[in-house]
Amino acid sequence: MALQKNYPKYTASVTQQHWCHGILQRRSTWGRKERKRMKMLGMVVAIGRVAMGSLGGNVQAEVTKAPFGTTTVGEHTGKQVDVYTLKDAALEVKVITLGARLMAVNAPDKNGKKADVVLGHPDLAGYEADRDTYFGAVVGRYGNRIAKGQFTIDGKQYDVPVNNNGQSLHGGLEGFDNRIWSAKQIPDGVEMTLVSPDGDQGYPGTLTAHVRYTLKGPDLRIDYSATTDKATVLNLTNHAYFNLAGEGNGTILDEKITINADRYTPVSSVLIPTGDLPSVAGTPFDFRTPHVIGERIEAENEQLKIAGGYDHNWVLNGPNGTMKMAAKVVDPKSGRTLTVSTTEPGVQFYTGNFIKDGAITGTGGQAYVRRGGFCLETQHYPDSPNHPAFPSTLLQPGQTMHSTTVFSFGVEK
Ligand code: GAL
Repeated sequence: MALQKNYPKYTASVTQQHWCHGILQRRSTWGRKERKRMKMLGMVVAIGRVAMGSLGGNVQAEVTKAPFGTTTVGEHTGKQVDVYTLKDAALEVKVITLGARLMAVNAPDKNGKKADVVLGHPDLAGYEADRDTYFGAVVGRYGNRIAKGQFTIDGKQYDVPVNNNGQSLHGGLEGFDNRIWSAKQIPDGVEMTLVSPDGDQGYPGTLTAHVRYTLKGPDLRIDYSATTDKATVLNLTNHAYFNLAGEGNGTILDEKITINADRYTPVSSVLIPTGDLPSVAGTPFDFRTPHVIGERIEAENEQLKIAGGYDHNWVLNGPNGTMKMAAKVVDPKSGRTLTVSTTEPGVQFYTGNFIKDGAITGTGGQAYVRRGGFCLETQHYPDSPNHPAFPSTLLQPGQTMHSTTVFSFGVEK
């Protein structure tokens, strides 16, 4: 197996990084009209941000810590999990130390009425019992799938646990979502740290990962960084499910999404990328202009059938390593909007197809339904270690992986 290019050495600013070359640097095939539309969208977002920022953007967020519960399952039994609350004039955000999970985001609608727009469990026992949804978690070491749980670095084959249809999903049986992260308060937020030992779930190298959640006005920013003492692969992302109508408030099928991507990565029957990067043009995967999520989700399309809906990686337009818009979602009824920007090269748009109707009672006491939330997991592409043409997920000793994603909440009247 050919090796991939490395992550470049981290320089002072994330905007200076260019982790990938080749395919993503080809000139975008996006039409002039679409580019103009995206530019306009970006401007509207920027104006919205300034407006929301004036509500509280210049004031430091208030950060508080409280015990969330004591674990009762597995190697962590008897350990305390804490909840950090980040609050400013625009938003209230809750993050817990189990899985460095984003547990709640209380955001106003067009009339100023707040609702929690993130799916979650009401208590720690709920998170401990649920090994399927990854609600709000930082997933790792490798977010999404690695084919047959196998990859090669420097000619050596590594085997990591297969926990999903013969493939490895979200870091294996005991991924980062199920670890208690250490945490410390930082200005406007909290920094979570996890040291994953050499050989953890079969992955080489001691990996030290930091995830910082900070809140500034309408922007919830997540900064990831990681170092290793042996060459390894990693793909960290956040697995929050959003429902802009409020968690527990039915499906997300009426919400409208735009994705800044000309191409996507179709998958095999076990949800592993085929390696092709076809255009989204003329398919139900074309979200370059806004579409209601439910509009084409049941279309006669092989990819939608395989995944039971949307559960694919979109190849974001714009350079890898530089902040760019990934997606925007609008809930026409409440007027709430979510804009996602990232330095990552891809985004997994997942429509909660595997949530079982009524199986989970959520944070506010309502039963969740299938497709009751969507995820926008900013990431490197699934199974990158086995696709040398994809942007590399290899991290070498001496390098620092850095990645930033901003979830920006607003309203449209
Ligand atoms: C997503 C993945 C889905 C499913 C989900 C967890 O990231 O793409 O296929 O595994 O996580 O239920």
